[in-house]
Amino acid sequence: MVRGGFVVISRHPTGAHHGAPRASPISDGLHCDGPSFIHFIRCRGARRRRCVAVRLDRFVSRSSGLSRSEVRRLLRRGAVSVDGSVVTAVGTAVDGSSRVELEGRPLAVPGFRYFMLNKPAGVVSATEDARHPTVLALLDEPHRDLLHPVGRLDIDTTGLVLLSDDGRWSHGITAPRRHQGKRYRVALAESLTDEAAARFRSGLLLRGETRPTLPAELEAESPTVVRVILREGRYHQVKRMFAALGNHVTALHREAIGGVVLDSELEPGQYRALSANEIEVLR
Ligand code: URA
Repeated sequence: MVRGGFVVISRHPTGAHHGAPRASPISDGLHCDGPSFIHFIRCRGARRRRCVAVRLDRFVSRSSGLSRSEVRRLLRRGAVSVDGSVVTAVGTAVDGSSRVELEGRPLAVPGFRYFMLNKPAGVVSATEDARHPTVLALLDEPHRDLLHPVGRLDIDTTGLVLLSDDGRWSHGITAPRRHQGKRYRVALAESLTDEAAARFRSGLLLRGETRPTLPAELEAESPTVVRVILREGRYHQVKRMFAALGNHVTALHREAIGGVVLDSELEPGQYRALSANEIEVLR
């Protein structure tokens, strides 16, 4: 549930979410990103609701970027309200369900956010598009315009898309030198030839390019369904690699990025917060 612009901790019975992501274990709800933000105060009923609270001055400071002394000055001036009432006490406990406003503007829950989405076909991996819905439109999150997809999938490709507002983390995943493996399930128009796996391993020269592809893995599930692991991300790479072998991709689904596998409980269009482990394994 999203109340007052903030994520309220709630769990869907199946673990799959349309607009109500699971709380990330990294913070039990408030997405914190560093040791300076770990002085939580347990709020009433915390065990049942799995919520944690934090001092108001910390919350405002971390979400606005202002120093604690500036925040205290603003608090004294009556510039901060919680759930519609002006609050001046710096030690007031707030949690992810509190609507905190600074001079009338809602403040986002501090810290970075990390999600995985099962992208359906027909949706573009972009922050804006004039003609098609974007992956961001599938997220029911406050300040979702601050989030971005990590890398791209074609409009007709389905499967795992990571989203975050932590640009450094995203860059670490997409940076070519990191070679994070991306695993795809590929349906083909023609049966696989015997030489295909060897050609993927040795690298292929794609049309219009001068540098061969990096070694890639290919494993057949059946003559026309294969799994491919790539360690780079060129434009339409999977489709172009099979085109270079005279074949044609009829369906493409991303199953995993590095050590993070698409959650099988997520239906197309659903998403959830990444766990602390999933965030770290990609760092
Ligand atoms: N390769 C493609 O051809 N398309 C994708 O969406 C991803 C990899």
